[in-house]
Amino acid sequence: MKNVLVTGGLGYIGSHVCVELLQKNYNVVVVDDLSNSRYEVLDAIEAITHIRPTFYQVNVGETEQMTEILQSHRIDVVIHLAAYKSVEGSIKNPQLFYDNNVTCLQGLLQAMQKTACRNIVFSSSATVYGKNTAPYVETMELSAVSPYAQTKIDAEEMLQNLCKADDSWSVVVLRYFNAVGAHKSGQIGELPTEDAHNLFPCMSLVVLQQKKRLKLYGKDYNTPDGTAIRDYVHVCDLAKGHLAAIDYSMSRKGFDAINLGTGIGYSVLEMLRGYEAICERQIPYEVAEQRPGDVAVMYADVTKAREKLGWQAELGLEEMCRDSWEFVRIFHGGK
Ligand SMILES: NC(=O)c1ccc[n+]([C@@H]2O[C@H](COP(=O)([O-])OP(=O)(O)OC[C@H]3O[C@@H](n4cnc5c(N)ncnc54)[C@H](O)[C@@H]3O)[C@@H](O)[C@H]2O)c1
Repeated sequence: MKNVLVTGGLGYIGSHVCVELLQKNYNVVVVDDLSNSRYEVLDAIEAITHIRPTFYQVNVGETEQMTEILQSHRIDVVIHLAAYKSVEGSIKNPQLFYDNNVTCLQGLLQAMQKTACRNIVFSSSATVYGKNTAPYVETMELSAVSPYAQTKIDAEEMLQNLCKADDSWSVVVLRYFNAVGAHKSGQIGELPTEDAHNLFPCMSLVVLQQKKRLKLYGKDYNTPDGTAIRDYVHVCDLAKGHLAAIDYSMSRKGFDAINLGTGIGYSVLEMLRGYEAICERQIPYEVAEQRPGDVAVMYADVTKAREKLGWQAELGLEEMCRDSWEFVRIFHGGK
């Protein structure tokens, strides 16, 4: 069975990837510096799977330590999720994002170079499509609308150049659309932190009465209800996409980038109504200005994921809302 290193494995998406891998009998090693996660997530992963993955609290940019980990566990493939993800944070502190998302990747690749491991699955984002018109296809030209997006484009370029220079590498870049939902056990999910900017954590904070109103950024988009349209994808579907990407990576060499989305766009108001129905609470909102860099409509062309990975999303809006709420409800003591 394959030995898989998951960087950022205690984070939101990473923890779901670990669960999926463990349930399919992969040997899992997790590296996470806990900069945006909690050690207790390891306990939750163990509670769900009855297996405790080996864990290292290490920054992925620490080449020496990463080399040691890769060698001692004979890692076959790295799933690299560790990064900072806040668009707003990247505008305030672009250097920090560049260091963590690009320079640390360079450190990780140097560590991999020192070992036999040449397979990497990399977490990119739909934000690399910039202001292109949906549906977003992998062949579109990339452009950055934020420093965060730029770090993903730079990282993709670094990986592409690596493959051009050395044909022993296999790189699968996964461009995620908007990850939502949680594991159906309610034990892992996305924590609604105070400085959350994503829709679901923000809606949760309102339902939990930790925020008065949801800020709805823009109701004057050229869309049927005036709010922005996004491709929301259940995090458990995303996790399964990583297992398909491992198989794909093992079957070939070179660089490839693949969208992971549902191919369906929902407006912010549609998601809000769906979440209200599940929580059986009203979510008051106030309309704020469109955020710089936000586009009106964003959804994936999912043909390539279907053809190359044999993967497609299975869970819909109701499961996304239900599982998100279940996690938040349990996490906050069953309110
Ligand atoms: N959540 C989304 O909707 C979404 C969409 C597109 C792309 N992505 C990308 O997916 C990846 C995972 O996102 P997420 O939502 O799970 O984020 P997250 O913040 O929950 O998880 C990232 C994890 O990486 C860890 N980490 C950060 N920098 C590290 C470093 N240098 N060394 C070791 N650990 C480090 C954090 O502690 C955290 O546990 C990120 O690369 C993100 O950019 C996420």
